[in-house]
Amino acid sequence: MANREHWGSKMGFVLAAAGSAIGLGNVWKFPYVTGSNGGAAFVFIYLISVVILGLPIMIAELVIGRHTEKDPVGAFKQIAGGTTWEFVGYLGVLSGFFILSFYSVVGGWTIGYIVKSITGSIAGLHDTAQASEIFKQYVANPYLSILYHVLFMASCMYIVIKGIKNGIEKWSKILMPLLFVILIALIVRGITMEGSLEGIIFFLNPDFSKITLNSILSALGQSFFSLSLGMGAMITYGSYLSREDKILHSALWIVLLDTLVAILAGFAIFPSVFAMSLSPQEGPGLIFHVIPAVFARMPLGQFFEVLFFVLLFIAALTSGISLLEVVVAYITDEKGWSRRKAVLVMGSIITLLGIPSALSFGVMGNVTILGNTFFDFMDKLTSNYMLPIGGFFIAICLGWKYGLENTIHELDPDTRFISLKELWAFMIKFVSPFILFVVFFMLIKDDIVALLQKVF
Ligand code: PFF
Repeated sequence: MANREHWGSKMGFVLAAAGSAIGLGNVWKFPYVTGSNGGAAFVFIYLISVVILGLPIMIAELVIGRHTEKDPVGAFKQIAGGTTWEFVGYLGVLSGFFILSFYSVVGGWTIGYIVKSITGSIAGLHDTAQASEIFKQYVANPYLSILYHVLFMASCMYIVIKGIKNGIEKWSKILMPLLFVILIALIVRGITMEGSLEGIIFFLNPDFSKITLNSILSALGQSFFSLSLGMGAMITYGSYLSREDKILHSALWIVLLDTLVAILAGFAIFPSVFAMSLSPQEGPGLIFHVIPAVFARMPLGQFFEVLFFVLLFIAALTSGISLLEVVVAYITDEKGWSRRKAVLVMGSIITLLGIPSALSFGVMGNVTILGNTFFDFMDKLTSNYMLPIGGFFIAICLGWKYGLENTIHELDPDTRFISLKELWAFMIKFVSPFILFVVFFMLIKDDIVALLQKVF
């Protein structure tokens, strides 16, 4: 497409893509999954899966995006037009649609908690039980949950409506450096407290006895979600790359920054948690139950608490815009709508779809789909099913159907020492699909057994 918008600079692209990758997955989920899976041992497995699974698929998505210069549906129409492979693109757009609907609910909580920490209504909660009670009351309130969910969606829409260069890239260039500054401030605050060493040891000293098959699967799934893979977000961002940009180099940077922030988030959280004699194994509530108690016990706690929730909001926002962009790119490219109309209409539909998720912790808590609340159902459906299936088919379609010989020229020239292109080709054809198949099979095995038991 001759007049397709492009990123203004390579750094702008890397920051935007890193913004997509760095999200609630890094700052909220990674620390608590690590906390309940043996600390450093989990981090070790996570790092392996980032390298052998995440990086090759990240490169594959960027290659498909730049090669076709299309949204995920358009991209698969181009590389596998007229065949059933087109569904991979549709699956991606639908995943973006679904993920954003519940992701925005948690994004809304971060806004609510910024307000709460500024007004001081969660200051002085020394006890995690008290903090957890406040959290439960807050998420059960239908008006507040919906209000903040709408506010979060409106923030994403505001940025995406302005387009690639003046919206997504401009805001990523402001927000991502800010995110790093806040993260460093929180780490310095945490590790300079008495008793923080224990947290650092917990995070760095592996306990391999805690590693089970399930924790390996969580590490793989987590790396996938964290890197925004399997639904065409990186295809979409890659489609705005110019011919001169170097894909391997950029992909390495994105993966490096995402992993760095996950690790740094651990350093920002565990030392403080241990210094305040709290437990790291709190699960999903770690951030919302334990963190207020941590800050309540800390000098200058309220200030750092505000910073913490601003960090979480920024992380969520730069991911939210990438999810919305996938849907918007599809509508503008394939249906010819203006960007403005696509953002307003699709953004509103996603907001509506998010309402049952926003109500899942209160008035709709009893409404279940296959035993899950609406929120959990959406989360499981996308993270456990749609993303791994999407990733699997992206690898297979590129590696076997379209053929790597048609796209490998998109990669940077090889170094003298090792053929990175050949290595990538091997990974994408054999290793990644195999691992994804196994992961997917393991993840759904229990669900299918449970379902069959219900039916028969
Ligand atoms: N990578 C984001 C996170 O770690 O929170 C979540 C995400 C964003 C997943 C965008 C998929 C996506 F396309």
